[in-house]
Amino acid sequence: VRHKILELLREKKPSYISGEEMAAFLAVSRTSVWKSIQALQSDGYVIEGSPRLGYRLLIIPDHLYPAEITGNLHTKRIAVNREMIHHYHQVESTNTTLKNLADKDAPEGTIVVAEEQIGGRGRQGRFWLSPPEKGIWLSLLLRPPLPPQDTPVFTLLAAAAVAKSLKIILPELAVGIKWPNDLLINRRKVCGILTELKAEAEFLHYLVIGIGINVNFREKDFTPELRKIATSLYLENGRKNVSRQRLTSVLLNELDKSYTELLSDGPRSIIGQWKKDNITLGKRVVVKNVREAFEGKAVDLNEDGSLIVEGKNGIRKHFHAGEVTLVPMNGG
Ligand code: BTN
Repeated sequence: VRHKILELLREKKPSYISGEEMAAFLAVSRTSVWKSIQALQSDGYVIEGSPRLGYRLLIIPDHLYPAEITGNLHTKRIAVNREMIHHYHQVESTNTTLKNLADKDAPEGTIVVAEEQIGGRGRQGRFWLSPPEKGIWLSLLLRPPLPPQDTPVFTLLAAAAVAKSLKIILPELAVGIKWPNDLLINRRKVCGILTELKAEAEFLHYLVIGIGINVNFREKDFTPELRKIATSLYLENGRKNVSRQRLTSVLLNELDKSYTELLSDGPRSIIGQWKKDNITLGKRVVVKNVREAFEGKAVDLNEDGSLIVEGKNGIRKHFHAGEVTLVPMNGG
């Protein structure tokens, strides 16, 4: 009933619709209409009630409710119906929640979004700060018919899709991808991606791609240490709030497009898109992994997603994992 009431209010906005009319139209009792209105109000919808005129919807909260996102989707595989978007006000980590759903056979394209994560996870066991309503904390479930070795390209795909979405919504911002999947604006990180998988040596059960975007953080929402290396869309966008609902639907559309393309044409176009938006290739870098810290020039991205770095003596190394630091060159 609640969704239907919301639809009616939305259609009538900014005018009133009477409780009686809604009850008759949906063939439910007046009490049930009233209960739905109360539930919507406690979800943050501002609905004005007038004894004579009925109800009208004044403000739609910028929460990532499925009903606010699906309307703008034209996806084929991802979040193709409202039931495939699981929204929570607070979770430990959307990746963890989605892995549990995946273990219970949730279909490909299932999404988990949360307003807040209290145990948000970053790469290499780090903590990911995820305060309420300040960002997009989203995980996507994919079950591609590919071997586990092919998974790095999915992380590149996600990074390229976020970059594209940000360009659509905020065309003035210079967003760049640092290998493999950090998004930076003015050298500060605005988005990170954590891909987790369940696989056997030869068989991939599923992939969970976790995307965290710092959307409406003010300075005070970061810790002082984080503020040195991180930023938000709000801060980079002349201190204007960015709609998380709009960004989420644009992002889901882009992810869907790229994933469909990857399945039909292979990784080439993903690699191309990634390269177009990257700020790593051509730069002097230090790549740290478990074994070493290697300094050199990032010369290319391999078809499998690995980074090719050329050291001083001309030796080229392929990195499949690691942490890249961009080394400022002479003159910046
Ligand atoms: C990184 O270290 O750069 C990766 C950060 C990934 C954060 C996202 S937020 C949604 C999803 N749930 C998590 O716990 N982590 C990812």
